[in-house]
Amino acid sequence: MTQNVKPIRIAGIGYGVPETVITNDDLTKLYDTSDEWIYTRTGIKERRVVSGNENAVDLGFAAAKMAVENSGINVEDINCVIAASSAPPQLYPALSCNVQSRLGIPNYVPSFDLTAACTGLIYALQVARGLIGAGIYKNILLVAADNNSRLVDWEDRSISILFGDGAGAMVVTEAEDGVDDILSLDVRADGSIGKYIYMNIPGNNCPLVEPCEQVDAKIHMSGRDVYKFVVTTLPKYIDKCIEDAGMVASDIDYLIPHQANQRIIEALQQRLEYPDEKVVSNIKYYGNTSAASIPIALVEGVQQGKIKLGSTAILCGFGAGMTWGAAVVRLREGIC
Ligand code: UT7
Repeated sequence: MTQNVKPIRIAGIGYGVPETVITNDDLTKLYDTSDEWIYTRTGIKERRVVSGNENAVDLGFAAAKMAVENSGINVEDINCVIAASSAPPQLYPALSCNVQSRLGIPNYVPSFDLTAACTGLIYALQVARGLIGAGIYKNILLVAADNNSRLVDWEDRSISILFGDGAGAMVVTEAEDGVDDILSLDVRADGSIGKYIYMNIPGNNCPLVEPCEQVDAKIHMSGRDVYKFVVTTLPKYIDKCIEDAGMVASDIDYLIPHQANQRIIEALQQRLEYPDEKVVSNIKYYGNTSAASIPIALVEGVQQGKIKLGSTAILCGFGAGMTWGAAVVRLREGIC
């Protein structure tokens, strides 16, 4: 792994979620399911979804505004915007471009999206770390925002129970005090198992070439395969990330995992031998909000007093690709 030249500081964090709540009981109006089945298998009780004209850009904007305000960095001084979005309202313009203009970031600042599904924020952090480390940009806004509810098949009970909408954001900057907030960071992908979770984009070939067929453009997932992959890969991978940080699990204050399934969170907790107080889980109230799930859990954890700042945390995510990643980070006072 390349060492970055300049250390980076996590300066501010934020989140945004829609108001509309859908409970497990609400879902029983759509198909044959029950609160008991959903809660036991996933740990989810409810999720938030966008409504009306609201979409992931609005959520991303709210999260980004909060993160920038918390960072104390002026919007005029943001040099780059990276959005991790796999369920945006539009393929283009990029969600990052929309957030850039809505937030009043100068209208020449480079802004782009990356697709790493639920691992998106950790991927974005890796890219930002490289850009800041190499001295290319100084202040980077990371946004993770998805409106999954627009892309799930609401007739498919195995998938639509899981997802919710939300956004998280983080401002990262060159650490002028020389203290690096990234103690270790690694991201990975295995395209050979991409079929575990996929979503086609609607579109047909030219009708002069062949008859048009309706393209199925909904999220597909082989839940069991994903589950098996994650519980066999992630625990030992996290061990490695902790080792890369020159630490042991007990040195780290919190585990903030991707919120995909409470049983997966518990498997990671057991591996690290952490008591409940060290594990941040809010899946019960938000479901799986893709790349936003880690920053939402982080910010909410701080707001609710579960996470004390001036601490360290291991963030870990996984998702379509398949992608996965983990980071051991320092959470300084004042980021939220
Ligand atoms: O960030 C994205 C990452 N994705 C994930 O992390 C997903 C990981 N996987 C999972 O969380 C679990 O696999 C699920 C929660 C998605 C599913 O749990 P499962 O224990 O693997 O259930 P299953 O898919 O094997 O289905 C078991 C049974 C089936 O019935 P039969 O065939 O045994 O009769 C399903 O038809 O449960 C049935 N089922 C349901 N029953 C009631 C599936 N969905 C539902 C439902 N309500 N919503």
